[in-house]
Amino acid sequence: MTRDWQQWHEEYEIPGSSLARRLEVVQGYLRPLLARPRRVISMCAGDGRDVLPLLPAGSRAVLVEWDPVLASRARASAGEGVTVITGDAGTTTPYAAIAPAEVVLACGVFGNISYEDTRRTIAALPSLLAPGGTVIWTRAGDSPVRNVFAENGFTEIGFTTPDDARFRVGTHRLTRDPDPFLSGVRLFTFV
Ligand SMILES: C[S@@+](CC[C@H](N)C(=O)[O-])C[C@H]1O[C@@H](n2cnc3c(N)ncnc32)[C@H](O)[C@@H]1O
Repeated sequence: MTRDWQQWHEEYEIPGSSLARRLEVVQGYLRPLLARPRRVISMCAGDGRDVLPLLPAGSRAVLVEWDPVLASRARASAGEGVTVITGDAGTTTPYAAIAPAEVVLACGVFGNISYEDTRRTIAALPSLLAPGGTVIWTRAGDSPVRNVFAENGFTEIGFTTPDDARFRVGTHRLTRDPDPFLSGVRLFTFV
């Protein structure tokens, strides 16, 4: 891990910052999906501030975060049914306990991995999702991520591109049959 991800999270505390605005958009997409209990995965979850406050009782969630301080912050604000794993989100192994999930969060992931890994991760998402499951993802700037989702059997539900900020937030629903879950598949490595 080359960046200080704890410091990266501090921008969330600045009202009107790009990250604070991105959080509002992510939660705007999440809220209707969490109108009833769900099984949720968050890859590279950080401190979990996007999903944890919105998770309804009766949900189950697995959040995977490498940084032990951020993971412990997530654990501290997690309710019943939430497992925070301090470890590598870049293989399918930590998701064995929860897959197939109805909602997968991949926020702050695709901008930190190679395009090849982005393709590999999106191609593997149908093995983590329940039928009709939804992915919410972020990426700074223009990128082919939307096309890669389309190539893998997803339909775009929403895509937010502010004129005055570089963040992009997308949400895609799986509209083909899911794939069987396989443990131990490498998805990505942070660069
Ligand atoms: C850009 S931040 C995004 C955090 C959170 N998803 C959000 O949007 O607020 C990327 C996060 O990935 C974590 N990370 C980096 N490599 C990881 C890995 N291999 N497995 C799990 N988490 C990782 C970092 O510690 C950091 O918290």
